[in-house]
Amino acid sequence: MIGRLNHVAIAVPDLQAAAARYRDTLGAVVRDPQDEPDHGVTVVFIELPNTKIELLHPLGDDSPVRGFLDKNPSGGIHHLCYEVEDILAARDKLRADGARVLGDGTPRIGAHGKPVLFLHPKDFDGCLVELEQV
Ligand code: CO
Repeated sequence: MIGRLNHVAIAVPDLQAAAARYRDTLGAVVRDPQDEPDHGVTVVFIELPNTKIELLHPLGDDSPVRGFLDKNPSGGIHHLCYEVEDILAARDKLRADGARVLGDGTPRIGAHGKPVLFLHPKDFDGCLVELEQV
């Protein structure tokens, strides 16, 4: 069911510093910061040859990333995103197998303009998993 690794999201306490590290030290292609008010984050996309990295920084007071940074003040991997061809079929199969889909299970439009869902980290070895329909 799952396809390519679409991105690895890393929550960072200092977006400018993290973006500069990827651009200047690691030599990656780093895009401009993008505010995603619906998701409570500012995102910097980093293009790698085989996947993307998303640097996440809290935006607004009820950002889902703020609690993560409170627990991990120097930042850390926040989630992995796998591609699926049919997100509703994927959701139904996961639920049938006992995995918990976060929220009410209705896909939301993610940072790339495509439908996404998140899966409970306790069902996936401690990793928050995002599915994105491509
Ligand atoms: Co993501």
